[in-house]
Amino acid sequence: MKTILVAGGAGYIGSHMVALLVEKGYDVVVVDNLCTGHWQAVKGAKLRVGDLRDGNFLDQVFSEFPIDGVINFAAYSLVGESVTNPLKYYGNNVAGSQSMLTAMKNHGVKKIVFSSTAAAYGEPEKQPIEETDRTEPTNPYGATKLAIEGMLKWCDRAYGIKYAALRYFNAAGANTDVGIGEDHNPESHLIPIVLQAALGKRDHVGIFGDDYPTPDGTCVRDYIHVRDLASAHLLALEYLDKGGESGSFNLGNGTGYSVKEIIDTARKVTGKPIPATVEPRRAGDPSVLIASNKKAQEVLGWKPERGLEQIISDAWTWHSSHPDGYGK
Ligand code: UFG
Repeated sequence: MKTILVAGGAGYIGSHMVALLVEKGYDVVVVDNLCTGHWQAVKGAKLRVGDLRDGNFLDQVFSEFPIDGVINFAAYSLVGESVTNPLKYYGNNVAGSQSMLTAMKNHGVKKIVFSSTAAAYGEPEKQPIEETDRTEPTNPYGATKLAIEGMLKWCDRAYGIKYAALRYFNAAGANTDVGIGEDHNPESHLIPIVLQAALGKRDHVGIFGDDYPTPDGTCVRDYIHVRDLASAHLLALEYLDKGGESGSFNLGNGTGYSVKEIIDTARKVTGKPIPATVEPRRAGDPSVLIASNKKAQEVLGWKPERGLEQIISDAWTWHSSHPDGYGK
């Protein structure tokens, strides 16, 4: 494997993947329609701007470069928006992946690592969550990712396209070596919001509910460093290249932190007071989501290396040096 196509490589997680591949000496081609991604985040790779749903565009890219494997991050990913506009999510996420798989089939490319989500599980039946647990998404975002996992399974059977679907828990952090980080508009994720409050860009953080059945009443999540996520993708690609079986894998640290613990850790890391107030629950939030990462450890040989303080401190380095994200 020499040349890797990264779809959605201008986005948050995708750009961290590109940085790792470039660091490891791969030739990297990014396709991105830049509708939520940032061209400034693509460092050391070729960028072709276009939409995955445009089959001619993908044909051109696959003809131009000798692609050995694909990593697909391209998707809409706002849970709340997916509930109010499900067709936007099916139309982009599912159709985009279908178009990518079609191009792979037509050009004889047999390996794909796909960006899936913990939202594929919906309300978990137990903690930590294992890959064999029930998958019953409670929002269209998770449903589109699960639908794509189904499409991958059938494309493996029919065309021999091998896949690893990686179900991320809560991605956070930044790559302080390369100078890339998280820049969503609008921002809905907890850690960037907390750090924006630390920077004075927001007057406070709203804690969405403190009456959950958790030790301090706030929701518990499994935060995973975006660089550890990227490492898992590379291991997954190498695993498929060595003839590994297709499958789905959880990617999380296996440890849960509450919203209040995140805010407290951010206060410690930044030295800022970070005002917080309790607000009503956000619809659709499960109380606890913690990954079992046993399968990724055993099958892919992956081990997350960075804990919560490192996640928040790297994110802080990015946010404090890029208070307006990639914009200015
Ligand atoms: N939260 C707050 N205040 C905020 C923002 C978030 O209290 O201003 C809370 C949320 O209620 C939740 C926790 O912080 O309990 C984490 O929220 P995020 O929005 O950062 O992340 P989610 O756990 O909701 O979502 C993540 C991914 C999604 C994925 C989902 C799977 O970002 O892409 O996990 O359940 F779909």
